[in-house]
Amino acid sequence: MAPPRKLHINSYGCQMNVYDAQRMVDVLAPEGFVETASVDDADLVILNTCHIREKASEKVYSELGRLRLARDEAAKGGRKMQIAVAGCVAQAEGEEIVRRQPAVDVVVGPQSYHHLPRLLAQAAQAGRALETEFPVADKFGFLPQPRPEAIRARGISAFVTVQEGCDKFCTFCVVPYTRGAEVSRPVAAILDDVARLADNGVRELTLIGQNVNAYHGDGPDGRPWTLGRLLQRLAAVPGIVRLRYSTSHPNDVDDDLIAAHRDLDALMPFVHLPVQSGSDRILAAMNRRHTAADYRRVIDRFRAVRPEIAFSSDFIVGFPGETEADFEATLALVTQIGYAGSYSFKYSPRPGTPAAEMPEMVPAAAMDERLERLQQLIDAQQSAFNKAAIGRTVDVLFERAGRKPGQIVGRTAYLQPAHVFPGHVFPGHVMAPDSIVGQVLPVRIDSLERYSLLGELAAMPPQQHAPPLAATGA
Ligand code: 5AD
Ligand code: SF4
Repeated sequence: MAPPRKLHINSYGCQMNVYDAQRMVDVLAPEGFVETASVDDADLVILNTCHIREKASEKVYSELGRLRLARDEAAKGGRKMQIAVAGCVAQAEGEEIVRRQPAVDVVVGPQSYHHLPRLLAQAAQAGRALETEFPVADKFGFLPQPRPEAIRARGISAFVTVQEGCDKFCTFCVVPYTRGAEVSRPVAAILDDVARLADNGVRELTLIGQNVNAYHGDGPDGRPWTLGRLLQRLAAVPGIVRLRYSTSHPNDVDDDLIAAHRDLDALMPFVHLPVQSGSDRILAAMNRRHTAADYRRVIDRFRAVRPEIAFSSDFIVGFPGETEADFEATLALVTQIGYAGSYSFKYSPRPGTPAAEMPEMVPAAAMDERLERLQQLIDAQQSAFNKAAIGRTVDVLFERAGRKPGQIVGRTAYLQPAHVFPGHVFPGHVMAPDSIVGQVLPVRIDSLERYSLLGELAAMPPQQHAPPLAATGA
């Protein structure tokens, strides 16, 4: 048998890329590829790229320069290293990539990952292979299922892509061009993936899509299902105890989604709902098709059915034409909503998008200053939110053993990391991480260390059969 070939994937950007990286590993496993953490001993290096902002995009070329040196080094030892560029930069820039960096063997867009084995073989023969088409066929039907060992190695929390692409065309955004039109996967295909994940220990699902709440996949009844309906069905899958979804658009929050938050305990009360700006003038220029007041009404609908619900958002500062007054409207909206956390970015013109043609670029110094002020407000809200957990007992889904002996790490409903030493509260009990990983248990939070909550188990796991330490003679 041929020795395994080593594969190193570097992923940038969003959760969809993290998920896609796993799919590429699954596609290449039958070809004899195993993952390696180091670039230097890799036979194949894949850069899974992000095109959302210029900084992310330019990083690819500096990284490729470094890879070329690693490839030359490998060649000196008689080993051939192949370099592939995947993801949204591959989709957007195609041939431009090999023009700027001729060491690249393969350029593959996000809709073509199932063709990777063929493209690699083609590149080995012809020196190069490029594929950035948007094929008509559904790529998901051609992607192999992950092997049970691969699922287990990835842990108890998994991403599942339920839709891809976006039809919203916000004027600043490249996604409709790089990921294409909105496409939803059929319910049956998702259920199939989820059953396999749950059978192999997955307890938490995050349904992902560029515009996930526009989901309208075919249901088993032949009619399109909403995201709310899909969540309701997934909550009934044995083993699945937590559900999340990301990223949503405020205009696609429908009554089914609100009902899912009302009815499903497994659906976590934490929603990422980007608003981008608090100024109606800027929202219109961004083609968001809603006002700040519309957004607040959407938030209120969630809060009416789940008072404990918390939100995060994305913001862009310095969109063309943004005045100090527009920016202050953003600060005012953030103050009104009160977020558990948020991401904020300086506007970055993307080639081919309408906003890139807009005059009135905000000067760099004003952008820096606005970003700083917004981030201060967001950070203050996040710390207040985290501090509010101190002294409370909250549910934690345990994920893995911690770095310190005896410590187990999990996450709260709001994705806050929680670090627990179970042995402290129930002295004399051997509590192997294995007995707790995958369970949701109440934890009394006593302190906060940076972004992590520290606490103690408030109840024993129900199936805890480990004998007291004394009985084992330890
Ligand atoms: N410039 C700055 N930020 C952007 N985003 C998307 N496009 C741009 C851009 N051109 C941000 C938005 C989006 C997040 C994923 O990235 O806030 O919600
Ligand atoms: Fe981009 Fe999101 Fe707007 Fe779609 S809804 S164009 S993904 S910012």
